[in-house]
Amino acid sequence: MAITTQQLIRFKKEGRPIVALTAWDYLFAQLLDQAAIDVVLVGDSMAMVALGYDTTIPLTLDETIHHAKAVRRGVKQALLVVDLPFLSYQESPEQALRSAGRVFKETGAQAVKMEGGYEAIVESTARLVQAGIPVMAHVGLTPQSVHQFGGFRQQGKTPEAGDRILQEAIALEQAGAFSIILEHIPADLAQRISQKLTIPTIGIGAGPHCNGQVLVTADLLGLSNWQPPFAKSYANLREIVTEAVQSFGNEVRQHQFPIEKPQR
Ligand code: KIV
Ligand code: NA
Repeated sequence: MAITTQQLIRFKKEGRPIVALTAWDYLFAQLLDQAAIDVVLVGDSMAMVALGYDTTIPLTLDETIHHAKAVRRGVKQALLVVDLPFLSYQESPEQALRSAGRVFKETGAQAVKMEGGYEAIVESTARLVQAGIPVMAHVGLTPQSVHQFGGFRQQGKTPEAGDRILQEAIALEQAGAFSIILEHIPADLAQRISQKLTIPTIGIGAGPHCNGQVLVTADLLGLSNWQPPFAKSYANLREIVTEAVQSFGNEVRQHQFPIEKPQR
């Protein structure tokens, strides 16, 4: 049976860590799904790792849906969550519902994610949940606000800033979010939030006390040309890909590939 939003809440109760990764195309989505990842997120980080933008800001809803449809074809078991891109939901709960509705109907995703915990986002979360669209929340470093923060900086460092993030997380849970991403905040703050909430926290750069962890798959594989300090690479695919491509080039240039079949 495929993973459900309710199951993730049970995983937290049972103390079973949630494993999440991002995907932007069919091939990687299928590999992640077959490797028993719990949550596949079509993150708007694809703007940077798959499309070459400097930030997530330029990504459109149409681009998101295009990639999410490809990912959907590769995911059978994991829960599929799709990021709503910048300015596809911030305007109003109605705009959020329209955008989430398109993602839901056109891609077959089981949930959407929105950044932020201020009042308008809490309202939009409630609106989507009432309409039957599960929402994953996202607080701390919310990359769509990178220019507001003045860079990809850790958030919640002062007691006041930390308390504000905690209050946002509580409000998002009350609005009906089924889980929440905690990005680049101090580990003790992430621990406090994780203890306070019933819904699972999924951390990235938020220490070991979250109820799950997520990484951008290009970082995990050592495929990205830049990665944040809190990411960990479990392979060096840049090197492997470069070597394979160079070997092909060398063999073609030296007339070693293809080799003519010996005549019978
Ligand atoms: O876009 C993304 O990859 C994300 C994760 C880092 C949570 O939002
Ligand atoms: Na994102």
